[in-house]
Amino acid sequence: MIETRVLSYDAAAIAEAAALIAAGRVVAIPTETVYGLAADATSGEAVAAIYAAKGRPSFNPLIVHVADMDAARALARFDAVSEALAAAFWPGPLTLVLPLAPGSPIASLATAGLSTVALRFPAHPAMRDLIAASGRPLAAPSANASGTISPSRAAHVVRSLGGRIPLVIDAGPTTLGLESTIVAAAPDRLRLLRPGPLTAEALSARTGLPVTGAGGEIEAPGQLAGHYAPSKPLRLDAVSARDGEWLIGFGAVAGDATLSPSADPVEAAARLFDLLHQADASSAPAIAVAPIPGTGLGAAINDRLRRASYGSGTNGVTPS
Ligand code: TXA
Ligand code: MG
Repeated sequence: MIETRVLSYDAAAIAEAAALIAAGRVVAIPTETVYGLAADATSGEAVAAIYAAKGRPSFNPLIVHVADMDAARALARFDAVSEALAAAFWPGPLTLVLPLAPGSPIASLATAGLSTVALRFPAHPAMRDLIAASGRPLAAPSANASGTISPSRAAHVVRSLGGRIPLVIDAGPTTLGLESTIVAAAPDRLRLLRPGPLTAEALSARTGLPVTGAGGEIEAPGQLAGHYAPSKPLRLDAVSARDGEWLIGFGAVAGDATLSPSADPVEAAARLFDLLHQADASSAPAIAVAPIPGTGLGAAINDRLRRASYGSGTNGVTPS
Protein backbone atom coordinates (compact mmCIF):
# COMPACT_ATOMS: atom_id res chain seq x y z
CA MET A 1 0.00 0.00 0.00
CA ILE A 2 1.16 3.51 -0.76
CA GLU A 3 -0.33 6.79 0.36
CA THR A 4 -2.79 8.21 -2.16
CA ARG A 5 -2.84 12.01 -2.04
CA VAL A 6 -5.77 13.97 -3.42
CA LEU A 7 -4.98 17.52 -4.57
CA SER A 8 -7.41 20.07 -5.92
CA TYR A 9 -6.63 21.06 -9.49
CA ASP A 10 -4.30 24.06 -9.60
CA ALA A 11 -0.86 24.89 -10.97
CA ALA A 12 0.98 23.42 -7.96
CA ALA A 13 -0.95 20.15 -8.22
CA ILE A 14 -0.16 19.87 -11.94
CA ALA A 15 3.54 20.49 -11.22
CA GLU A 16 3.52 17.63 -8.67
CA ALA A 17 1.70 15.40 -11.09
CA ALA A 18 4.18 16.20 -13.89
CA ALA A 19 7.08 15.34 -11.59
CA LEU A 20 5.49 11.94 -10.88
CA ILE A 21 4.95 11.35 -14.62
CA ALA A 22 8.61 12.23 -15.27
CA ALA A 23 9.58 9.65 -12.65
CA GLY A 24 7.60 6.96 -14.50
CA ARG A 25 4.69 6.94 -12.03
CA VAL A 26 0.94 7.04 -12.62
CA VAL A 27 -1.44 9.91 -11.78
CA ALA A 28 -5.25 10.03 -11.84
CA ILE A 29 -6.49 13.11 -13.68
CA PRO A 30 -9.90 14.11 -14.99
CA THR A 31 -10.88 14.46 -18.61
CA GLU A 32 -14.34 15.60 -19.74
CA THR A 33 -15.36 11.93 -20.12
CA VAL A 34 -14.01 10.08 -17.07
CA TYR A 35 -11.02 10.29 -14.75
CA GLY A 36 -8.01 8.70 -16.44
CA LEU A 37 -4.99 6.92 -14.96
CA ALA A 38 -2.15 8.62 -16.83
CA ALA A 39 1.47 7.67 -17.43
CA ASP A 40 4.20 8.49 -19.96
CA ALA A 41 3.14 6.71 -23.16
CA THR A 42 6.73 6.63 -24.41
CA SER A 43 7.94 4.53 -21.44
CA GLY A 44 7.09 0.82 -21.40
CA GLU A 45 7.71 0.64 -17.66
CA ALA A 46 5.43 3.60 -16.96
CA VAL A 47 2.70 1.99 -19.07
CA ALA A 48 3.24 -1.29 -17.22
CA ALA A 49 2.64 0.60 -13.97
CA ILE A 50 -0.86 1.51 -15.25
CA TYR A 51 -1.73 -2.15 -15.74
CA ALA A 52 -0.22 -3.04 -12.38
CA ALA A 53 -2.30 -0.39 -10.56
CA LYS A 54 -5.51 -1.38 -12.32
CA GLY A 55 -4.88 -5.09 -11.79
CA ARG A 56 -5.87 -5.74 -15.40
CA PRO A 57 -5.64 -9.43 -16.19
CA SER A 58 -4.75 -8.75 -19.83
CA PHE A 59 -3.11 -6.02 -21.91
CA ASN A 60 -5.57 -4.07 -24.01
CA PRO A 61 -4.18 -1.29 -26.17
CA LEU A 62 -4.57 2.06 -24.38
CA ILE A 63 -5.68 5.50 -25.55
CA VAL A 64 -2.82 7.98 -25.91
CA HIS A 65 -3.65 11.59 -25.08
CA VAL A 66 -2.08 14.65 -26.72
CA ALA A 67 -2.73 18.38 -26.35
CA ASP A 68 -2.07 19.70 -29.87
CA MET A 69 -2.14 18.58 -33.49
CA ASP A 70 1.64 18.78 -33.94
CA ALA A 71 2.08 16.21 -31.19
CA ALA A 72 -0.64 14.05 -32.73
CA ARG A 73 1.09 14.13 -36.13
CA ALA A 74 4.41 13.11 -34.60
CA LEU A 75 2.75 9.95 -33.29
CA ALA A 76 0.37 8.83 -36.03
CA ARG A 77 -0.40 9.18 -39.73
CA PHE A 78 -3.60 11.07 -40.49
CA ASP A 79 -5.64 10.27 -43.61
CA ALA A 80 -7.96 12.94 -45.02
CA VAL A 81 -11.06 11.67 -43.21
CA SER A 82 -9.30 11.50 -39.85
CA GLU A 83 -7.93 15.02 -40.43
CA ALA A 84 -11.46 16.25 -40.99
CA LEU A 85 -12.73 14.48 -37.86
CA ALA A 86 -9.92 15.94 -35.77
CA ALA A 87 -10.58 19.42 -37.14
CA ALA A 88 -14.28 19.11 -36.31
CA PHE A 89 -14.27 17.34 -32.95
CA TRP A 90 -10.90 17.89 -31.23
CA PRO A 91 -10.47 18.81 -28.49
CA GLY A 92 -13.28 16.58 -27.29
CA PRO A 93 -14.58 13.08 -26.54
CA LEU A 94 -13.36 11.52 -29.78
CA THR A 95 -10.61 8.89 -30.09
CA LEU A 96 -9.17 8.13 -33.55
CA VAL A 97 -7.43 4.86 -34.37
CA LEU A 98 -4.57 5.63 -36.78
CA PRO A 99 -1.44 3.95 -38.14
CA LEU A 100 1.64 4.70 -36.05
CA ALA A 101 3.90 7.29 -37.66
CA PRO A 102 7.35 6.05 -38.72
CA GLY A 103 9.60 6.41 -35.69
CA SER A 104 6.65 7.02 -33.37
CA PRO A 105 8.00 7.00 -29.79
CA ILE A 106 4.93 5.28 -28.29
CA ALA A 107 5.90 2.27 -26.13
CA SER A 108 4.82 -1.02 -27.69
CA LEU A 109 2.97 -1.97 -24.49
CA ALA A 110 0.67 1.05 -24.94
CA THR A 111 -0.48 -0.26 -28.34
CA ALA A 112 -0.27 -3.91 -27.24
CA GLY A 113 2.20 -4.40 -30.07
CA LEU A 114 -0.22 -3.23 -32.78
CA SER A 115 0.85 -1.01 -35.69
CA THR A 116 -1.98 1.40 -34.90
CA VAL A 117 -2.53 3.81 -32.01
CA ALA A 118 -5.73 5.20 -30.48
CA LEU A 119 -5.23 8.97 -30.12
CA ARG A 120 -7.32 11.49 -28.24
CA PHE A 121 -7.01 15.27 -27.78
CA PRO A 122 -9.17 15.93 -24.72
CA ALA A 123 -10.87 19.21 -23.88
CA HIS A 124 -10.47 19.15 -20.08
CA PRO A 125 -7.92 21.77 -18.93
CA ALA A 126 -6.50 19.52 -16.17
CA MET A 127 -5.49 16.77 -18.58
CA ARG A 128 -4.26 19.31 -21.12
CA ASP A 129 -2.16 21.08 -18.47
CA LEU A 130 -0.64 17.79 -17.36
CA ILE A 131 0.27 16.82 -20.95
CA ALA A 132 1.86 20.25 -21.45
CA ALA A 133 3.70 20.20 -18.11
CA SER A 134 5.07 16.70 -18.61
CA GLY A 135 5.92 17.27 -22.27
CA ARG A 136 4.86 13.74 -23.05
CA PRO A 137 1.94 11.96 -24.69
CA LEU A 138 0.02 10.30 -21.86
CA ALA A 139 -1.50 6.84 -22.00
CA ALA A 140 -4.64 6.82 -19.87
CA PRO A 141 -7.38 4.24 -19.42
CA SER A 142 -10.18 4.95 -16.98
CA ALA A 143 -8.87 5.30 -13.42
CA ASN A 144 -10.61 2.33 -11.86
CA ALA A 145 -9.58 -1.18 -10.89
CA SER A 146 -10.15 -3.72 -13.63
CA GLY A 147 -13.75 -4.92 -13.82
CA THR A 148 -15.24 -2.04 -11.82
CA ILE A 149 -17.22 0.94 -13.08
CA SER A 150 -15.58 4.00 -14.58
CA PRO A 151 -14.89 6.98 -12.28
CA SER A 152 -16.56 10.32 -12.88
CA ARG A 153 -15.40 11.79 -9.54
CA ALA A 154 -12.13 11.84 -7.61
CA ALA A 155 -13.85 9.95 -4.77
CA HIS A 156 -14.63 7.08 -7.17
CA VAL A 157 -10.94 6.87 -8.04
CA VAL A 158 -9.92 6.81 -4.38
CA ARG A 159 -12.47 4.10 -3.60
CA SER A 160 -11.16 1.94 -6.42
CA LEU A 161 -7.42 2.66 -6.50
CA GLY A 162 -6.68 4.19 -3.09
CA GLY A 163 -3.43 2.75 -1.72
CA ARG A 164 -2.29 1.77 -5.21
CA ILE A 165 -1.53 5.15 -6.85
CA PRO A 166 0.36 8.17 -5.49
CA LEU A 167 -1.87 11.05 -6.61
CA VAL A 168 -5.38 11.99 -7.70
CA ILE A 169 -6.03 15.47 -9.12
CA ASP A 170 -9.55 16.51 -8.14
CA ALA A 171 -11.37 18.86 -10.51
CA GLY A 172 -14.89 17.89 -9.53
CA PRO A 173 -17.27 15.62 -11.40
CA THR A 174 -16.65 15.08 -15.11
CA THR A 175 -19.21 16.61 -17.44
CA LEU A 176 -19.78 13.66 -19.80
CA GLY A 177 -19.30 10.67 -17.49
CA LEU A 178 -18.91 8.18 -20.33
CA GLU A 179 -15.74 7.11 -22.16
CA SER A 180 -14.91 8.70 -25.51
CA THR A 181 -16.30 7.56 -28.85
CA ILE A 182 -13.68 5.49 -30.73
CA VAL A 183 -13.59 5.67 -34.52
CA ALA A 184 -11.39 4.14 -37.20
CA ALA A 185 -11.85 5.95 -40.51
CA ALA A 186 -11.81 4.25 -43.90
CA PRO A 187 -12.06 6.28 -47.14
CA ASP A 188 -15.70 5.28 -47.62
CA ARG A 189 -16.99 4.76 -44.07
CA LEU A 190 -16.37 5.24 -40.37
CA ARG A 191 -16.02 2.20 -38.14
CA LEU A 192 -17.47 2.91 -34.72
CA LEU A 193 -15.29 0.84 -32.40
CA ARG A 194 -16.84 2.12 -29.17
CA PRO A 195 -19.98 4.23 -28.90
CA GLY A 196 -19.62 7.26 -26.67
CA PRO A 197 -20.64 10.88 -26.11
CA LEU A 198 -20.06 11.84 -29.75
CA THR A 199 -22.88 10.17 -31.66
CA ALA A 200 -22.80 8.23 -34.91
CA GLU A 201 -25.24 10.81 -36.30
CA ALA A 202 -22.84 13.69 -35.58
CA LEU A 203 -19.91 11.79 -37.10
CA SER A 204 -21.87 10.96 -40.22
CA ALA A 205 -23.30 14.47 -40.59
CA ARG A 206 -19.83 16.01 -40.46
CA THR A 207 -18.13 13.65 -42.94
CA GLY A 208 -21.01 12.56 -45.17
CA LEU A 209 -19.85 8.98 -44.60
CA PRO A 210 -21.86 6.02 -43.30
CA VAL A 211 -21.01 4.75 -39.82
CA THR A 212 -20.74 0.99 -39.44
CA GLY A 213 -20.24 -1.15 -36.39
CA ALA A 214 -22.99 0.68 -34.50
CA GLY A 215 -26.18 -0.96 -33.27
CA GLY A 216 -26.12 -4.74 -33.08
CA GLU A 217 -22.58 -5.22 -34.34
CA ILE A 218 -20.47 -3.16 -31.94
CA GLU A 219 -17.00 -4.58 -31.71
CA ALA A 220 -16.02 -5.27 -28.10
CA PRO A 221 -13.52 -2.79 -26.66
CA GLY A 222 -10.08 -4.27 -26.49
CA GLN A 223 -10.97 -7.21 -28.65
CA LEU A 224 -11.87 -5.48 -31.89
CA ALA A 225 -8.32 -4.44 -32.56
CA GLY A 226 -7.22 -8.02 -32.69
CA HIS A 227 -3.97 -8.60 -30.90
CA TYR A 228 -0.44 -8.69 -32.03
CA ALA A 229 0.28 -12.31 -32.93
CA PRO A 230 3.63 -13.58 -34.16
CA SER A 231 3.72 -15.24 -37.59
CA LYS A 232 5.42 -18.36 -36.26
CA PRO A 233 4.70 -20.98 -33.59
CA LEU A 234 5.23 -19.91 -30.00
CA ARG A 235 5.88 -22.41 -27.21
CA LEU A 236 5.22 -21.47 -23.57
CA ASP A 237 7.01 -22.47 -20.36
CA ALA A 238 10.27 -23.31 -22.13
CA VAL A 239 13.45 -23.66 -20.07
CA SER A 240 15.68 -24.13 -23.13
CA ALA A 241 15.43 -23.72 -26.92
CA ARG A 242 14.58 -26.70 -29.11
CA ASP A 243 15.10 -27.03 -32.88
CA GLY A 244 16.47 -23.54 -33.42
CA GLU A 245 13.72 -21.72 -31.51
CA TRP A 246 14.34 -18.08 -30.56
CA LEU A 247 14.09 -18.20 -26.78
CA ILE A 248 12.64 -15.27 -24.85
CA GLY A 249 14.13 -15.48 -21.38
CA PHE A 250 12.93 -14.47 -17.93
CA GLY A 251 14.80 -14.66 -14.62
CA ALA A 252 17.17 -17.65 -14.57
CA VAL A 253 16.37 -18.55 -18.20
CA ALA A 254 18.61 -16.19 -20.19
CA GLY A 255 17.41 -16.90 -23.74
CA ASP A 256 18.35 -15.01 -26.91
CA ALA A 257 17.06 -11.94 -25.11
CA THR A 258 15.35 -11.62 -21.76
CA LEU A 259 12.14 -10.01 -20.60
CA SER A 260 13.79 -9.35 -17.25
CA PRO A 261 17.02 -10.84 -15.90
CA SER A 262 15.88 -10.04 -12.35
CA ALA A 263 12.40 -11.57 -12.92
CA ASP A 264 10.72 -8.18 -12.47
CA PRO A 265 7.19 -8.35 -13.94
CA VAL A 266 7.01 -4.59 -14.62
CA GLU A 267 10.19 -4.73 -16.69
CA ALA A 268 8.92 -7.90 -18.39
CA ALA A 269 5.61 -6.29 -19.33
CA ALA A 270 7.44 -3.26 -20.71
CA ARG A 271 9.59 -5.44 -22.98
CA LEU A 272 7.03 -8.09 -23.95
CA PHE A 273 5.86 -6.84 -27.34
CA ASP A 274 9.31 -5.58 -28.37
CA LEU A 275 10.78 -9.04 -27.81
CA LEU A 276 7.88 -10.77 -29.55
CA HIS A 277 8.47 -8.53 -32.57
CA GLN A 278 12.21 -9.18 -32.40
CA ALA A 279 11.70 -12.95 -32.20
CA ASP A 280 9.20 -12.79 -35.06
CA ALA A 281 11.60 -10.80 -37.25
CA SER A 282 14.51 -13.20 -36.58
CA SER A 283 15.36 -16.05 -38.95
CA ALA A 284 14.44 -18.66 -36.31
CA PRO A 285 11.57 -20.97 -37.33
CA ALA A 286 9.79 -20.74 -34.00
CA ILE A 287 9.65 -18.86 -30.69
CA ALA A 288 9.80 -20.17 -27.15
CA VAL A 289 9.17 -18.25 -23.93
CA ALA A 290 10.43 -19.00 -20.45
CA PRO A 291 7.89 -19.62 -17.66
CA ILE A 292 6.54 -16.48 -16.00
CA PRO A 293 4.79 -16.61 -12.60
CA GLY A 294 1.08 -15.86 -12.96
CA THR A 295 0.78 -13.44 -10.05
CA GLY A 296 0.31 -9.66 -10.36
CA LEU A 297 1.24 -8.35 -13.81
CA GLY A 298 2.36 -11.89 -14.64
CA ALA A 299 -1.32 -12.78 -15.18
CA ALA A 300 -1.58 -10.22 -17.98
CA ILE A 301 1.75 -11.28 -19.47
CA ASN A 302 0.65 -14.91 -19.50
CA ASP A 303 -2.76 -13.99 -20.96
CA ARG A 304 -1.04 -12.26 -23.88
CA LEU A 305 1.43 -15.08 -24.37
CA ARG A 306 -1.35 -17.67 -24.42
CA ARG A 307 -3.18 -15.65 -27.07
CA ALA A 308 0.03 -15.20 -29.06
CA SER A 309 0.60 -18.96 -28.95
CA TYR A 310 -2.93 -19.77 -30.07
CA GLY A 311 -2.78 -22.23 -32.93
CA SER A 312 0.68 -23.39 -31.89
CA GLY A 313 -0.96 -26.55 -30.60
CA THR A 314 -0.23 -26.59 -26.89
CA ASN A 315 -3.06 -24.68 -25.26
CA GLY A 316 -6.79 -24.51 -25.42
CA VAL A 317 -7.18 -20.75 -25.54
CA THR A 318 -9.55 -19.31 -28.10
CA PRO A 319 -8.42 -16.24 -30.00
CA SER A 320 -10.06 -12.88 -29.58
O1 TXA B 1 -12.82 8.67 -22.40
C1 TXA B 1 -11.84 7.93 -22.59
O2 TXA B 1 -11.54 7.49 -23.73
C2 TXA B 1 -10.98 7.56 -21.38
C3 TXA B 1 -10.38 8.85 -20.85
C4 TXA B 1 -9.47 8.61 -19.68
O3 TXA B 1 -9.69 9.52 -21.89
N1 TXA B 1 -9.96 6.63 -21.74
C5 TXA B 1 -10.22 5.33 -22.05
O4 TXA B 1 -9.06 4.66 -22.41
O5 TXA B 1 -11.32 4.82 -22.05
P1 TXA B 1 -8.84 3.14 -22.56
O6 TXA B 1 -7.35 3.01 -22.68
O7 TXA B 1 -9.50 2.35 -21.47
O8 TXA B 1 -9.50 2.74 -23.93
C6 TXA B 1 -8.97 1.59 -24.53
C7 TXA B 1 -9.79 1.13 -25.67
C8 TXA B 1 -9.48 -0.31 -25.98
O9 TXA B 1 -10.20 -1.20 -25.17
C9 TXA B 1 -9.85 -0.39 -27.42
O10 TXA B 1 -11.25 -0.51 -27.52
C10 TXA B 1 -9.48 0.97 -27.95
O11 TXA B 1 -9.38 1.83 -26.86
N2 TXA B 1 -8.18 0.94 -28.62
C11 TXA B 1 -6.98 1.35 -28.14
N3 TXA B 1 -6.02 1.18 -29.04
C12 TXA B 1 -6.60 0.68 -30.14
C13 TXA B 1 -6.13 0.30 -31.42
N4 TXA B 1 -4.85 0.41 -31.74
N5 TXA B 1 -7.03 -0.18 -32.30
C14 TXA B 1 -8.34 -0.28 -31.97
N6 TXA B 1 -8.85 0.06 -30.77
C15 TXA B 1 -7.99 0.53 -29.87
MG1 MG C 1 -12.36 1.46 -18.57
